[in-house]
Amino acid sequence: MQALNLTDDLRSRLNKARAGGLKIGFVPTMGNLHDGHISLVEAARKECDVVVVSIFVNPLQFGINEDLDTYPRTLEDDKALLASHGCDILFSPSVREMYPDGKGIATIVDMPELSQLHCGISRPQFFKGVATVIVKLLCMVQPDIAYFGEKDRQQLTIVRQVINDLSIPVRITGVATKRAASGLALSSRNNYLSEEELQIAASLYQVLLDVCRQLQSGSQDYLRLESEASQKLATLGFVPDYFHICQQQSLLPVQPDDQNITILAAANLNGTRLIDNIAFDLCDLYSDFQPFNQQADLV
Ligand code: PAF
Repeated sequence: MQALNLTDDLRSRLNKARAGGLKIGFVPTMGNLHDGHISLVEAARKECDVVVVSIFVNPLQFGINEDLDTYPRTLEDDKALLASHGCDILFSPSVREMYPDGKGIATIVDMPELSQLHCGISRPQFFKGVATVIVKLLCMVQPDIAYFGEKDRQQLTIVRQVINDLSIPVRITGVATKRAASGLALSSRNNYLSEEELQIAASLYQVLLDVCRQLQSGSQDYLRLESEASQKLATLGFVPDYFHICQQQSLLPVQPDDQNITILAAANLNGTRLIDNIAFDLCDLYSDFQPFNQQADLV
């Protein structure tokens, strides 16, 4: 595996690969890698000749009181993990390399509607920061396919929209959420949780499944379901941020005729922000829904 920090080096390495007709797969990350990230790398490995992973903790997507400074940075461990999972090029630029004038840049990519819903309500700067850095990274890597986790469903939807709106020639592939045996979605922020908190955290997924069951049984009382789920989370010890039943494609509020649904939730547990979602078709029999088909060994 080649480890590069400079955009010029990355470009010249990838220009050669492109000239040789090789297909480039790209996995953007903020590091502190876990099985969820590795499933993205593996998906890229299966389809592409050259697998590029970026590690960059992007200041632009963190709010003033968020965890930019304490976000786990584990570059050496990440390198070893990537090298053993078929990554060809690790690109880990410095903040100066990405934003030469300091913390940010003058041009910002935004999707004013979707970026202000769901996570955007309490993190108004977040998706602007994500969309901007993703467009920048895509211009640097110019991959054929870029891979994003479905755990960050709103991010994935926004990235798809931005790519479409700006005619960026890349295919976006969503990869299923990796879960611990408890059902907890794997996330770097799980590292902030104690053993006891990890058990509580797993109930976020159970609450999502419970609402899925009720919708599949025919309930259309969306506001009541959302509010009961939030209350349930509060009883379990979370401070719920939102619990929204949405149309799957647009992530706008669900309508009674919709068949394809996504439930999105975010909640804080002792200061750690957790997000999760499930996407399903109302017509699918519940028995088809395999809650733990993406199990991982470790939280
Ligand atoms: O999902 C993440 O890790 C980040 O939001 C991303 C896509 C790497 C952009 O910084």
